[in-house]
Amino acid sequence: MNTSPSHSFSRREFIRTTAQAAAIGATVAAPWVARGRVLGANDRIGIGFIGVGGRGFSHVNTVKNLIKEGEQAQIVAVNDSWKFRRDEVVRQTGAKAYLKHAELLADSAVDAVCIATPDRLHVPQAIDAVRAGKDVYCEKPMGHWTQTELSRKFYEETVRLKRVVQIGNQGNSSSAWKKVGELIRQGAIGHPQLVVAGFFRQGDWGERMDIPDPTAKPGPELDWEGFLGDAPKVPFTVDRFFSWRKYLDYAGGPCTDLFPHVFTPFVSCLGVKIPSLAVASGGIFKYTTYDREVPDTFNMCLDYPEKLSIVIPCTLSNAYPNEPTIRGDEGTITLQNPGEWNMGFDSVSVIPFQGNKQVIPAGKMDATQAHWKNFLQCVRTREKPASDVEFGYHVQVALNMALLSFLKKKVAQYDFTRQEIVL
Ligand SMILES: NC(=O)c1ccc[n+]([C@@H]2O[C@H](COP(=O)([O-])OP(=O)(O)OC[C@H]3O[C@@H](n4cnc5c(N)ncnc54)[C@H](O)[C@@H]3O)[C@@H](O)[C@H]2O)c1
Repeated sequence: MNTSPSHSFSRREFIRTTAQAAAIGATVAAPWVARGRVLGANDRIGIGFIGVGGRGFSHVNTVKNLIKEGEQAQIVAVNDSWKFRRDEVVRQTGAKAYLKHAELLADSAVDAVCIATPDRLHVPQAIDAVRAGKDVYCEKPMGHWTQTELSRKFYEETVRLKRVVQIGNQGNSSSAWKKVGELIRQGAIGHPQLVVAGFFRQGDWGERMDIPDPTAKPGPELDWEGFLGDAPKVPFTVDRFFSWRKYLDYAGGPCTDLFPHVFTPFVSCLGVKIPSLAVASGGIFKYTTYDREVPDTFNMCLDYPEKLSIVIPCTLSNAYPNEPTIRGDEGTITLQNPGEWNMGFDSVSVIPFQGNKQVIPAGKMDATQAHWKNFLQCVRTREKPASDVEFGYHVQVALNMALLSFLKKKVAQYDFTRQEIVL
């Protein structure tokens, strides 16, 4: 038996997260199991929003726009740990407000939920949702870096209960990445061998995050226990509640926050699953003057059993872009002029060893809107969405391997027989 510290970490995590999953299930699953109704083409899909801060609120607007364009859907319920955000959505949409996500899940008018809470809450709330018979649009990252086993539970429960789950990696719905996937499958560059992409930004606002009310306190208007979920029980600070991306208890820095945008589309284009090995380096190199826990520089290197490597560097001190590049053994693919991470790329170039370079217009688009349309269509047809739960799980394991490698300063390997990360 493997008795290395790495192995015991994995076992401890397994036992803890399995117990958490059981506890969560025990609190909310029983009365609502498999309550999903079968929707006809003209039935309106009732949507509930769990977490309506920056991203959740923009999802409310996306859905409102889709409804204006004729989508048969309705915003019926909202839950947020902070009353003021909840109230704003009620004011704008007439949705019913709930203090706790479990109460929202008990509402039979809710067919599908959008989960856009801090990272560590996604998987526990999503497990509750599928057990309550709801379909789920779950923001990226699928789970927190401490929750590999719980993320697997979410994947298994989704399959077992036949729920539709879309992970919020909207790049998967953008036309540029669809084109790249087609080119690779057609053999345009032979066997892909090495991907080099990157995430480059100047500024730390993403992690510092605004504090809209420095006097906010736990009580009827702010659910601190709800925010903590399965995280360590620590005393309340406004900083932890509003600027949660700075803290490893709730977030993982560029690896889990930003790489879902630049890494995930490769997983889908290349058709790979879980990497065999991950190493990562970096640190807090630029923003050293405050209590930030997550790195601002993070470089991830993954090897896949399909005999290819993916390398993604990141700094938050310099936004000069690079072109994502896929090198195959018969040619190269690059993507030009990224828009905001919602919008895809202007064009895709193919440079074969034999023959001429081709530049294919890709067309920027609102990938989040396309991702929502795809999700709502799949809620009706029960097909797999563009970023389904199994795919999301594979992405999450890769990101967790990289972050654990960085935090423990070790090479992370995946044991395919035992289905666990070994450090
Ligand atoms: N796909 C994308 O492009 C994209 C972009 C931005 C954010 N995101 C993801 O969306 C998620 C939210 O990010 P954000 O920037 O909106 O953060 P945010 O802090 O602005 O919003 C989170 C909201 O969740 C609420 N909340 C906290 N605990 C809760 C609980 N137990 N139940 C219900 N609500 C709770 C908070 O009060 C807050 O309003 C993150 O996981 C992030 O990675 C994705």
